[in-house]
Amino acid sequence: LNGSHQTVTTDPQRRLLDFLRDDLGLMGSKEGCGEGECGACSVVIGGRIINSCIIPVGYVEGLELETIESIRESTIGRTLVDTFAEHGAVQCGFCIPGMIVAGHALLRETERPGEAEIREAISGNLCRCTGYDRIVAAIRAAGEKLVGVDARGEPAASEIPRGAD
Ligand code: FES
Ligand code: FES
Repeated sequence: LNGSHQTVTTDPQRRLLDFLRDDLGLMGSKEGCGEGECGACSVVIGGRIINSCIIPVGYVEGLELETIESIRESTIGRTLVDTFAEHGAVQCGFCIPGMIVAGHALLRETERPGEAEIREAISGNLCRCTGYDRIVAAIRAAGEKLVGVDARGEPAASEIPRGAD
């Protein structure tokens, strides 16, 4: 979990979202719909974005799990947080953790994504406030800032692959 090993005893049928928020105090993942539709509860399990509201905690046994708490501290995550603020892309903020998770997944794989790629990447995330345009602009701006910067914030001439972050 977020880069460290965790051993826990709990009902494996509990929702992963409840386990993260209530048991571990990781409150960054939000509950919007609770039905796997809005993406507010997005986490990354084994490199795939998953809605934690519809996954039992037992599913993640032995797997790598990343939540917004660690993603926002990565080079890409911090850049996204900055550009979301710079572009006024946050209104109520409820969808934003999921948007950052989705943007991070896109930018770790794709340098300088275009609008269509960005809209596709956030297609599983619903925002009731912004109309999406500022969110798309913020992710695009993050992509521009990250050109020539590898996943650890070093010049791209280093050997570290983009997917390492
Ligand atoms: Fe999980 Fe909406 S709260 S997808
Ligand atoms: Fe309110 Fe997206 S900023 S739901």
